[in-house]
Amino acid sequence: MHIIFAASEIVPFAKTGGLADVAGVLPKAVAAEGHQVDVFMPLYNMIHCYDHGIYPVEWLQDIPVSMGDRQVYFSVQVGKIPGANVNIYFIDAPYYFHRNAIYTNDPDEGERFILFSRAVLETIQRQGWQPDVIHCNDWQTGLIPAYLAHNYAWDRNCFGNTATLMTIHNIGYQGRFDKGLIYHAELPQHEGHPGGTLEFYGSFSMLKAGLVYADIINTVSERYAVEIQTAEYGHGLEGLLSARAQDVYGVVNGIDYTIWDPATDPLIHYHYTPQQLAGKYRNKKALLKRMGLTYDENIPVIGIVSRLVTQKGFDILVEAMFNLVQQDLQFVILGSGEYRYEEFFRVAAQTFPHKIGLWLGFNEELAHQIAAGTDMLLIPSRYEPCGLTQLYGLKYGTVPIVRRTGGLADTIKDFDGKTGTGFVFDAYTAPAMMRAIFRALKYYQDKDTWQTIMRNGMAQDFSWEVAAKKYIYLYEQAQRNRKTG
Ligand code: ADP
Ligand code: GLC
Repeated sequence: MHIIFAASEIVPFAKTGGLADVAGVLPKAVAAEGHQVDVFMPLYNMIHCYDHGIYPVEWLQDIPVSMGDRQVYFSVQVGKIPGANVNIYFIDAPYYFHRNAIYTNDPDEGERFILFSRAVLETIQRQGWQPDVIHCNDWQTGLIPAYLAHNYAWDRNCFGNTATLMTIHNIGYQGRFDKGLIYHAELPQHEGHPGGTLEFYGSFSMLKAGLVYADIINTVSERYAVEIQTAEYGHGLEGLLSARAQDVYGVVNGIDYTIWDPATDPLIHYHYTPQQLAGKYRNKKALLKRMGLTYDENIPVIGIVSRLVTQKGFDILVEAMFNLVQQDLQFVILGSGEYRYEEFFRVAAQTFPHKIGLWLGFNEELAHQIAAGTDMLLIPSRYEPCGLTQLYGLKYGTVPIVRRTGGLADTIKDFDGKTGTGFVFDAYTAPAMMRAIFRALKYYQDKDTWQTIMRNGMAQDFSWEVAAKKYIYLYEQAQRNRKTG
């Protein structure tokens, strides 16, 4: 098969969260199964072309796209996904993508990804490709299935056999804009009227467009695939998803063990394996020094690496924090996001400098060092489509403490005294979370049992091979759906 994979962030080029990790490795894993994969993302100004060996494609320069009453232009540059023979095409539209952040609150945020979606299709046409599947990821690429149904259906040569898969990495981000944007998107305006395929509670939603028009839909864990069909988790899209229930699948993400493995990770100070854990304790010492905390082998360190947003459970953590810092434990926190949480942790770290080491911002190296140098990772999410940090925790022998939701529920098994890989709690409340933390603290004091939990986790295998095969099945299923309408 020939698969086109489109996403708004991809490791190692640009990243805000787990989508980038997935998009950096899934195409490689699908290609390794013998398929042709071509990847697309926008060329943001933080991507240094020279460093990554990215260069312009001569015959794909200054291509016009009409955007309602205006013409805009894009060019294409090409590079390789590291570690594989997979091309990645960068949509170069400086006017839209040379900004300080990947996502913005600028008034033309919707236009940026209209341009991206159309540029993917325009490039496919000019390359003369006939893709079997276009794999879209999150709202930024949600318009692609709608464009294929409306604006590009005439091109039977290129798209006559092209099916689409829409992957939901997070239903909380829906690409909602004013309905007026449908005009600039050049999609049928009547579809923006109440009951139309593009209308969503009086606005225009690019994610909804993807979910309506894609031949098949999936999300990043089995549990979340069920959850998003309920009012509690569906963010208003539960009706649409349950109406299409037979087309909605869940595939748990894998992780890239060429990047995330304590035996080889170049970003950590000391390497270690399940048989030889000494390096882990040396990493802990180095991390605590870096964060200005004192090392004590009997005091467990809880790590947090997260976008600081409500999804991730910070309101219950804020509620519990004062109590938690009274316990025999330390925190190392890395994150960036909402001002109120950044401010809370800044004040907490100033107030309890011996208990909390804090780094506000995005720091890839520190994320690896926290995975390696802490004893536990706390992920108390309100909802979690998959979650990758708990999978990194498992591999690094850093025991996850998680809420039983979405992918956290699918990947972490509560420790029962013998088996299990972490500590899991159910209710989204501060006391429920604290009970799980206290259970972990109790087991931590028994070094043998604790090493059993660590090794149980380190023995888990979340490599992409298995998940890639499931995606290939979904690609085939998307084609079957397309043929049967
Ligand atoms: P989400 O995609 O919802 O943010 P995931 O757990 O799937 O959650 O992925 C988060 C990814 O982003 C992980 O690779 C994690 O290490 C990384 N990450 C999150 N916050 C930061 C940060 N402040 N600095 C570095 N990496 C971060
Ligand atoms: C989203 C989700 C996260 C998931 C990631 C990759 O950002 O919030 O749970 O792991 O996408 O699929």
